[in-house]
Amino acid sequence: MIKIAVLVSGNGSNLQALIDANLSGQIVGVLSNKADAYALERAQKANIATAVISHKDFPTREVFDEAMHQQLLAWQVDVVILAGFMRILTPTFVNQWQGKMLNIHPSLLPAYKGVNTHQRVLNTGDRLHGCTVHFVTAELDSGQSIAQSAISVKEHDTAASLADRVHTLEHFIYPQVAEWLCNGQLTWKNGQAYFRDQILKHPIRFANW
Ligand code: GRF
Repeated sequence: MIKIAVLVSGNGSNLQALIDANLSGQIVGVLSNKADAYALERAQKANIATAVISHKDFPTREVFDEAMHQQLLAWQVDVVILAGFMRILTPTFVNQWQGKMLNIHPSLLPAYKGVNTHQRVLNTGDRLHGCTVHFVTAELDSGQSIAQSAISVKEHDTAASLADRVHTLEHFIYPQVAEWLCNGQLTWKNGQAYFRDQILKHPIRFANW
């Protein structure tokens, strides 16, 4: 069985969705860089091992990432799922998990990489917003996109209301893509994603838009 680690920093609603999805892989550990992340409580309630590795205890990103890497090796992890993990990862770390590490980002990538995506969508006046699951590569929020889901932005939307609706999409698409990685329908060869043995040319769309 594929062994999964989930990396978190905060609330962990995506972690909860992954736990509740009963994936064919097993979540063997939840690693947080913050001791007070609510995600850790969710893991403990589900009898999943947890580890806290605070970036503040390490002088550089490199040694922090190496400490995380050692924890993942100790758990004998095959797949790494970033779920609201708020640290930028070093290329060395990312390359060790290439093709095996997913992230979810609250925008329709390649639009709005980085933070504050909901407010930036409102500021620009976009009518369409959503979320993207992508493979993680060394450049922030730039690895190949696997799946996207969208909502339309309404006149009275605020950053908070958008965040709410996008979260609902996230909780649906992330477990699905994670399952594809666990059951071998989603693979990665030479820097390219394959879905059911075909080159994935465009992200899979989860809604009609
Ligand atoms: C989500 O919006 C996700 O897209 C982003 O961080 C947020 C995490 O939320 N990467 P949660 O901790 O899973 O509730």
